[in-house]
Formats: sequence, structure tokens, C-alpha cells
Amino acid sequence: MRLLQTLADLSDWRRGQAGRPLHFVPTMGSLHGGHQQLLRRASLAVQGSRPAVLLSVFVNPLQFGPAEDFARYPRDLAADAALGAAAGADALFAPSVAELFPAGESELTGVVPPAGLRRSLCGPGRPGHFEGVATVVCRLLALVRPDRLLLGEKDWQQLTILRRVVADLALPVVVQGCATVREADGLACSSRHRYLSTAERGQAAALPAALGAALALWRGGTGSAAALTATVTGELEAAGLGVEYVQLVHPSTLAPVSGAAGISLLAAAVRCGSTRLIDHIFLMNR
Ligand code: PAJ
Repeated sequence: MRLLQTLADLSDWRRGQAGRPLHFVPTMGSLHGGHQQLLRRASLAVQGSRPAVLLSVFVNPLQFGPAEDFARYPRDLAADAALGAAAGADALFAPSVAELFPAGESELTGVVPPAGLRRSLCGPGRPGHFEGVATVVCRLLALVRPDRLLLGEKDWQQLTILRRVVADLALPVVVQGCATVREADGLACSSRHRYLSTAERGQAAALPAALGAALALWRGGTGSAAALTATVTGELEAAGLGVEYVQLVHPSTLAPVSGAAGISLLAAAVRCGSTRLIDHIFLMNR
């Protein structure tokens, strides 16, 4: 696997891939099974030809708030290179902040997704986050010019926003969402699990369990948002997790709904110690 650290390395490698479909998996590193699943999906042949798969690792300062974990976000490029290669990446683009944002980060042209999408769910707790995500992903797309962008459903709001940004800016890339990969106890894989103590890791399993309890209730006939969110909140609090939000929303507009109808998204964000965790389930086909 080729390691590309400069824009010049990237464009040289890019030229060498001419004629092959190019599939792109952007990450912030500290790779886990969820990232590897995206890479494996990216490597699948398209009409008989194996695509070139580019993994990027870039801890994007634009998407972290001043009180968030930018400085301590886990960084281990050697481990990421090994895990990326094992899952099918042909090249790893890992630029420095100065390389990706040569004009500095403070005076950049920013991409601002629609308010309805960015202010829902995680928006209020993370002001500026989705602008930072959209800005870096647009810059990466402009540099990489992939045919396909693979993103995880784990970050459903991010996926929804990036689909919308790609559509609104008419970017020539297909966005492919990939199902959430979970650990044995149901907790969705996340780079931030490295922050959890053993006791907190045990507690964190209450997040998927609480969503599972709401799913059981919904299957039993309860459809009101108030009842479903109260169940989830109660289970999370009983497990000692700090609830940031529990909401029932429409899966594409992310607007709150008063009851589950058609397909709805039940999403939650919690604090487990100092670590923020998110998860969601779909309610459909009762
Ligand atoms: P990061 O958190 O590293 O995630 C990179 C990609 O992996 C995202 O598309 C995310 O949704 C996906 N992913 C993470 N955990 C997953 C899981 N358990 N199952 C399936 N997919 C999972 O998301 C980001 O980085 C950044 O915001 C980024 C898009 C790279 C922009 O900086």
C-alpha cells in the first residue's frame, strides 16, 4: 500500500489509476472494524474491474469544538496503515493540517449545509461540527475526484448531510452508505472507545440495549415519540449514562416526528464518563 502525505503524492498516485474506478473512504484514523468494513465494500469489483481504493486519515480540526477532543484524538498512522492494507486499501492519504489547508484553517471558504439538517440531533451540542465535516469532505473530494464515496450509517446525520451537500453542489460522485458494524455486545464500533475505562466500556453497552428496549416496545404497538424516547432515556439514566438527546425523527429530513410512521429514526447521544457516544435504530415494518 502506498503512503501519500502531500498533495503532489496524491496527484501522482491519482494519475497512475486512470481508467480504474476510484473509491474513497475518508476517516480520522484509529481504524476499527467499521472502517475496515467500508474498505472491504470499497474494494468490491464494479462490472468485473477491481476499483482503486483510497483511504484517508486526517483528524480534521474544523469539526472539533474548542472544548472537544482534537488534541487527544488517538493518532497511530502505522497501525492505521496495517489495518487499512489488510482491508483492501491501495493507498493511504494522510496529509498534515498545513498540507491540506495551506492557506490556514481560520480563513477558509466554508461549506454550510442546510440549517434543518445541521441543527437537528447532534447539531445543538456540537456547533460548527457539520460545517467542518462538509468543508473538509468537499476539499477532499475536489483533490481525490473519486467515483464513489463510502460513508458509514453509524453517523446517520453526517451521511444524510453529505448526501445533501453532494446533491446540492452537483458533485460528480456516488455516495454509498454502509451498515453500522457493532461489537459482540451490540455497541457500535467507534474510535472513541479507546477513551473508555473497563467499567465505562461495560456501561456503554446500555446505549444499544436502551434502543433495543424501545424497538421491543414499538413492536408491541407503542408508536408515540414521547413513550419511546421516555423508555430510552429511562434506561440510559438507570445505567448511569448522561443523556444529551433522545429523539424520534424523519430519517431524511431529520425533523422531529410525534410518532413512528413509515420509517422513523430513533437516535440518541450520551456521555459515558467524558466520552460522547451516539447510536440509532430504524423503526419500520411493524
Ligand atoms: P470517522 O469517525 O473516522 O469515520 C470514518 C467513516 O467510518 C465515517 O463514514 C463513519 O460513519 C464510518 N464509521 C465509523 N464507525 C462505524 C461503524 N461502527 N460502522 C460503520 N461505519 C462506521 O466520520 C468521520 O471520521 C469524519 O467526520 C470524516 C467523514 C472523515 C470527515 O472528517
